[in-house]
Amino acid sequence: MSDHARIELDDQAYEGRMIEGSEGERAVDISSLRNETGAVTYDPGYANTGSVQSSITYIDGDNGILRHRGYAIEDLAKHSDFVETSYLLIYGELPTQAQVTNFRESITKHTLLREDMRPFFDAFPPEAHPMAILSAGTLALSTFYQNHYDPSNPDDVEISTYRLMAKLPTVAAFAYKRSIGQPYIYPRNDLKFAANFLHMMFAVPSEPYEIDPDLARALTELLILHADHEQNCSTSAVRLIGSSQVNLFAAVSGGINALWGPLHGGANQQVVEMLAGIQEAEGDTKEFIRRAKDKDDPFRLMGFGHRVYKNYDPRARIIKDTADRVISKLAGNDPLFEIAQELEETVLSDDYFIERKLYPNVDFYSGLIYRAMNLPLNMYPVLFALGRLPGWIAQWREMSQDPDRRIGRPRQIYTGPTARNYVPIENR
Ligand code: CMC
Repeated sequence: MSDHARIELDDQAYEGRMIEGSEGERAVDISSLRNETGAVTYDPGYANTGSVQSSITYIDGDNGILRHRGYAIEDLAKHSDFVETSYLLIYGELPTQAQVTNFRESITKHTLLREDMRPFFDAFPPEAHPMAILSAGTLALSTFYQNHYDPSNPDDVEISTYRLMAKLPTVAAFAYKRSIGQPYIYPRNDLKFAANFLHMMFAVPSEPYEIDPDLARALTELLILHADHEQNCSTSAVRLIGSSQVNLFAAVSGGINALWGPLHGGANQQVVEMLAGIQEAEGDTKEFIRRAKDKDDPFRLMGFGHRVYKNYDPRARIIKDTADRVISKLAGNDPLFEIAQELEETVLSDDYFIERKLYPNVDFYSGLIYRAMNLPLNMYPVLFALGRLPGWIAQWREMSQDPDRRIGRPRQIYTGPTARNYVPIENR
């Protein structure tokens, strides 16, 4: 195979070096294309653009494969826990017992929020979307640690990593407690990550709260399944923001905002709203499928389709089984789960979806688990954000160590008016 690609532009030729990834993915290096030819590439949505070389996550979308640092997502979901998977993403290897213990302790030491931050939550209206509070809270946190957030100082990066991993669940749980008018519940450092989060969410000071180990395991699995997904919208946002050398808190806060959108992490909320709509329509999925196929209707079947997967999303397969288990245990059954399965079956045999290779994605069944846990709809994307946090941190850290890094600054093809004379206001 050739190690160069040739791009011909009128009478000019550009020779681009070929780059090959460890799984055989090939890319043309066009980094000097503009200097040499004056032309740029045009790639809306960056669907054909590799923005980085990364060793964190590998996806083979045609075959439904997802691996972190070489380890299959199925194995991590089954055998690992969230803190261990976070370590793997951030530091590149599965930890030894001593390393994971040290990492866990470094995180748990930081789970409390500074007391000065409590009034911050009271300033929001009770109906405030918790994604807004999480993003604002992440940025607010940075103001307490301004002496320790220099992105070029390894010690600052390390402690910022612990603080974010430790404090974001507390911010998320406080946002939830604020929305339902209950007292804030402080973290318990004797509990593991998911169990502590359940405690802060569901305990009340007036009675004991017993953590259901099956629920804690299901949440751990969900967090692992969301932990990273290479250069998706929010991760690319974190890298782009971080490329300006702003601190990690600010970059993660921006990532949360990107994740919030209904085409990304907000989809899990929208899926359950859509399934409830189908239930209201007495289970008639046909009208929803018809609308999703209608080019004049902006409606899409939420939880279906993916930029990279042209096959069943491996995360969705695992989450479907977990949903089955959690719903049977907590609710007996859920008519929305039945509707979801029926919808999936119909969609997977419909030519429109077959031709476009649209399969259920990670968001299709996850919301039904949160629903069985009695979480309000607007908390679903927050759970996605907590899961994605180690991925954002790992990608930001990789970006800040990358010898090829430059501030992210795409070009454009200007299509506005050409030069014209200023017209004084009285003459317009
Ligand atoms: N329902 C109906 N049609 C769809 C859907 C859908 N959910 N998704 C894609 N299509 C069609 C789309 O209309 C287009 O058809 P045509 O070729 O005739 O114009 C074709 O499939 C390709 O779609 P696209 O919009 O070019 O694909 P994309 O890679 O730009 O978008 C997506 C990917 C995930 C934004 C999109 O599939 C979508 O909007 N899905 C619903 C929202 C959703 O579930 N988002 C969660 C994504 S997974 C987790 C995450 O990243 O957060």
